[in-house]
Amino acid sequence: MMDSDLLLSGQVATVERAAGDIVLWRTTAGKVVACDARCPHQWSHLGTAGAVDGEDLVCLSHFWRFNSEGAGSKLSASGRRDEKSPIETFSVREQAGRIEIKVAD
Ligand code: FES
Repeated sequence: MMDSDLLLSGQVATVERAAGDIVLWRTTAGKVVACDARCPHQWSHLGTAGAVDGEDLVCLSHFWRFNSEGAGSKLSASGRRDEKSPIETFSVREQAGRIEIKVAD
């Protein structure tokens, strides 16, 4: 769990766990998302290499981006969106000033 006010729009935070870190991020519109911390491309840690761009989390290593459903893509210089591997997302809820992530383990 995390206090809601520690995750403002555009921010990324890491939740460390033995089974693999999770990153929490808040879209520009305010939606909270929880996903695997490791980029499916070359494993960069999105807690440090990730940046929110609108409603996507962008991996700054090679600019793959992930939406709040975990779908992966990359934008070309001309704006074409190419599909990339998805990232695992986790159920998350925000209630009474707290953010809770639901994980299987
Ligand atoms: S490691 Fe994330 S885009 Fe390459």
